[in-house]
Amino acid sequence: MAYKVMGLAAGRKDSNSELLLKEALMACEEAGAEVIMINLRDYNILDCTGCTACTIGMSQGKNVGCVLDSKDDKKKIMDVMLQQDAVIYSVPTYDLMPAANYLRFAQRSLAYETSFLETIGAIEHKDRVAGLISVGGSTRSWQSMALEGLQATMFTTDFKVIDMLLATRVPAPAQAVLNDELFAKARAMGEHIMQAVATPPEERKWLGDPDMGWCPNCHSNALVLGEKQWDGVYYPIECQVCGAGGTLEKTEDGKWKFVIQKDGLYKDRTTVAGRALHLDEIGETQGGFFMNPETVAEAQKRKMKYVNKVFRGID
Ligand SMILES: Cc1cc2nc3c(=O)[nH]c(=O)nc-3n(C[C@H](O)[C@H](O)[C@H](O)COP(=O)(O)O)c2cc1C
Repeated sequence: MAYKVMGLAAGRKDSNSELLLKEALMACEEAGAEVIMINLRDYNILDCTGCTACTIGMSQGKNVGCVLDSKDDKKKIMDVMLQQDAVIYSVPTYDLMPAANYLRFAQRSLAYETSFLETIGAIEHKDRVAGLISVGGSTRSWQSMALEGLQATMFTTDFKVIDMLLATRVPAPAQAVLNDELFAKARAMGEHIMQAVATPPEERKWLGDPDMGWCPNCHSNALVLGEKQWDGVYYPIECQVCGAGGTLEKTEDGKWKFVIQKDGLYKDRTTVAGRALHLDEIGETQGGFFMNPETVAEAQKRKMKYVNKVFRGID
């Protein structure tokens, strides 16, 4: 049976993110994949309301879905997307990060939290891979959170990222077509996707540029100074995306390198086990609050000072 590959674009019609995505998808199709493609601009996606009815249901062992399921197109897309072997996401960079239409779509995925749903037996496990394309008018400098923002949205639905492409300096509609190198990289991403899906899941690995980014674990280009975490774990430097911890070291040729320390992948967010530790944190922090009637009552009392204070808005 043919591998299923889906492309998801979020930019202008017939413009940079769509065209690069199509080049990658054409490589997949030529290698025998069954390919589909959508542009989020053709769908209606509402904001997550933050009600958490989905995860409250999951914590009681039920898959209750999302309260917005019948109100927009999110479910229609997810029902197809989660059946794919691979998805390639191609998203314009707005204000240094992925465009809001994509983020709105991604942040509606809590109801599809795969590891939660697998744990309660509501869904079967499926291994999926992803390729990420960010497209912007500027260089890396003005796309500083673009790929990292996309990476951060891969955890909830458990997509393993095997390649990423930062398409730079293509501000005008379809301008990217003049850059053969970008299209060669998009094609290579399609080929990598096909290589990954044909590899046993436990052996799948990063197939993009081995030197991409600071982080040798997830290849993000974003590091932050560490701070003591809820359970006391502390790393001097952390990868902003996967949470790998370590330090910066100077190499012999005078460059800086992020070196992950021995226990630095303890909370690796790219793995189910690493993400499970975050569920412990939520259990401790949120559960600790809700399970104690005294703290709930006290918060209720204190908040009234602010509830009763109303400022004038905009008519
Ligand atoms: C509201 C807005 C904000 C943008 N912000 C950035 C930015 O921060 N960095 C950047 O490199 N490009 C930025 N751009 C340029 C787009 O990323 C660029 O035009 C890209 O080619 C759009 O992709 P598309 O052709 O697929 O629609 C911005 C464009 C718009 C409309």
